[in-house]
Amino acid sequence: MEQEFWQARWRENRTGFHEAAPNSLLTRHFPALGLTAGQSVFVPLCGKALDLDWLCAQGLRVTGVEFNEGAVEEVFARQGLTPEITRAQGLIRYQAGDLTLFAGDFFAVAAAHLGAVDAVYDRAALVAVMPEERAKYAAHLNRITGTAKQLLIAFSYDQSLMDGPPFSVPGQAVEALYRDTHRVTLAQERAADGRIGKLCNAQEQAWLLTPLS
Ligand SMILES: C[S@@+](CC[C@H](N)C(=O)[O-])C[C@H]1O[C@@H](n2cnc3c(N)ncnc32)[C@H](O)[C@@H]1O
Repeated sequence: MEQEFWQARWRENRTGFHEAAPNSLLTRHFPALGLTAGQSVFVPLCGKALDLDWLCAQGLRVTGVEFNEGAVEEVFARQGLTPEITRAQGLIRYQAGDLTLFAGDFFAVAAAHLGAVDAVYDRAALVAVMPEERAKYAAHLNRITGTAKQLLIAFSYDQSLMDGPPFSVPGQAVEALYRDTHRVTLAQERAADGRIGKLCNAQEQAWLLTPLS
């Protein structure tokens, strides 16, 4: 989607995607990636998700990217951190301790911004991308993270029942995007909460992506 679409949602407080607690598919399935304290996780299209705080609490180095600067600032404020703010090739880099968030466009993030990435956590990021941009999103994500292993949380539903975002990303789409680079395993599927659950009987799915080589 266009940047202005998302900035308007933040301005108008239409952030129903934001959850009041860390996503329970994250807390349940992230350990399967086998990361240890000090390793790094990249969170694309991170919003101000409490998932970031949970990942930080695991002792991980956490890096995210998000269009909205207010959301980025809120994450540091609620953790009681005062970030150092610098310009970084088209992005604004906020950094304090093991938390680094870039305000700006995901597609402007280069591998050099991130350094080594041990894992990716995608919740409501792939599903926020226009279907015709998905292949570009997945290829860019693989490029900047060195095809890291990934926990991906997505929705699957009948797209004729609702306009996205969030868009439906059914299992075949996840496979098509990542099967050349990862082994794709469905870790859990459950009825989605909220509007998308009520309107479209959506399923929320947790996928584990393991690099092929
Ligand atoms: C559906 S929300 C999900 C946010 C977060 N992952 C969560 O679980 O709450 C998608 C977020 O991605 C941001 N976004 C969308 N496209 C982006 C892009 N190209 N670069 C950076 N952020 C983007 C939006 O501003 C929005 O906050």
